[in-house]
Amino acid sequence: MTDLARDKLKDPSLYEPGKAYINGKWVTAKNGKTFDVVDPFTRKIIGTCPEMGKEDVDEACAAAHAAFPAFSRKTGRERAKMLRKFDEAFNANRADLVHLLIKEIGKTKAEAEAEITYASSFFDWFAGEAERMYGDTIPAANPVMRIHTMKQAVGPVAAMCPWNLPLAMLARKVGAALAAGCTVVAKPAGESPLSTLAMAEIATRSGYPPGVLSVVTCLDRTAEVGEALCRNEHIRKVTFTGSTRVGKLLARYSADGLKKLSMECGGNAATIVFDSCDIEKAVTSVITSKTRNAGQTCVAANRIFVQSGIHDEFVKRFIAKLSTMKQGDGYAAGTMMGPLIHERAVDKARLHVQDALQKGAKLEYGPAKAPPLGPDDGFFYPPTVLTNLQSDMLISHEETFAPVAAIRKFNTEEEVIKEANNSSVGLGAYVFTTDLRVATRMSEALESGMVGINTGILSASEGAFGGVKESGYGREGSKWGLDDYTTLKSVTTDVS
Ligand code: SIN
Repeated sequence: MTDLARDKLKDPSLYEPGKAYINGKWVTAKNGKTFDVVDPFTRKIIGTCPEMGKEDVDEACAAAHAAFPAFSRKTGRERAKMLRKFDEAFNANRADLVHLLIKEIGKTKAEAEAEITYASSFFDWFAGEAERMYGDTIPAANPVMRIHTMKQAVGPVAAMCPWNLPLAMLARKVGAALAAGCTVVAKPAGESPLSTLAMAEIATRSGYPPGVLSVVTCLDRTAEVGEALCRNEHIRKVTFTGSTRVGKLLARYSADGLKKLSMECGGNAATIVFDSCDIEKAVTSVITSKTRNAGQTCVAANRIFVQSGIHDEFVKRFIAKLSTMKQGDGYAAGTMMGPLIHERAVDKARLHVQDALQKGAKLEYGPAKAPPLGPDDGFFYPPTVLTNLQSDMLISHEETFAPVAAIRKFNTEEEVIKEANNSSVGLGAYVFTTDLRVATRMSEALESGMVGINTGILSASEGAFGGVKESGYGREGSKWGLDDYTTLKSVTTDVS
């Protein structure tokens, strides 16, 4: 059994083969089973993790429950200091965390570095917010009564994270939870558990008591573990980033215990480029959004609408830029895009392109049929540009999660608003125009939780991240991100 990830760690104790992390200790699954973690670039096994089940979830949740009373009683100042120490330790282990991200997801070095910086920004932001859990004084109608509110930690949290930005997505949840005084049981995706486990070990080393942050891992038993987390009696809040299909299931499981929920589910970002834009800026920004993490983010530009006056020029410049983006080994200098996460992801991109071409899309760049992958090939899908995107195409309704850009020409603002909102989900959307009136009208009309104006990046720890419609509910990051980990208690005092 190879353990390539560990061989290259400066601190090999950030990963224990075959073990996850419960109650401050590295532990095997109670059933003794493990699964392999595979590098999507080499297809080599880089590590093993326990294939945990309900029995392990119950142990981790009991530890979170036991740790909660003492941890939640810490003052905001104490919790802020702990988070800052954690952030320092996290950054001190940057090289190893970057290595783990490159190996388990196939990120480029620049992207892995950017993810660590992004993750760290949540610790930093929420360290500040820990001291700002304000309540209110409510003027009572009855003269002998006094009413005030206080915010308190909601309780132990189950945090389920995706593989695309495993550390940043976890930091966005854990940073808020630890700031509020909640304990956490995290479940990383089976594709990317190693970086998450390292983060938990770093948290303990930086001073968090056992049980404050545990990590359960699984691949084949993901459905069982997800359900067990949502149904566990100790868990008071469930937070999930991932697909709408799974989000709905987890919400159903959580309903029995009336758990507090945050759901950051899929997107299908409408990206609208008006004639009135700065075209060079628009091209660069749309490419940034489309190719970040090889196209694998929930806020990637998915449906690109370009106004007729600049459509052809935009497509020409878009291809000229996209064609310079080299795919390859995340570690190699000059690589700008890594592989997709697994073969299923490549098959999905293939399906979306074929479906679009059959329904009348025009292939502007990339292969009509991507060559089949050899047994040792990394999971790459070539950058592709299609025009004449139509509403009946799969790519109009599902996130492609690959470097496939689907472009559609439009004429009027009214027409594009209607098409952009023709989606069951609404996470991110982008508008490119230098006309303030158009930008304002569009930001109000688009049915999405976030709108980027003249930018392809929506993500910031201080910004409110989240969606509407079937993209979910709750906000992460920002001052509202902390609220999602608190309950509001009202205290009424008779002073007579
Ligand atoms: C996501 O893909 O879910 C989030 C990406 C981000 O935070 O920018």
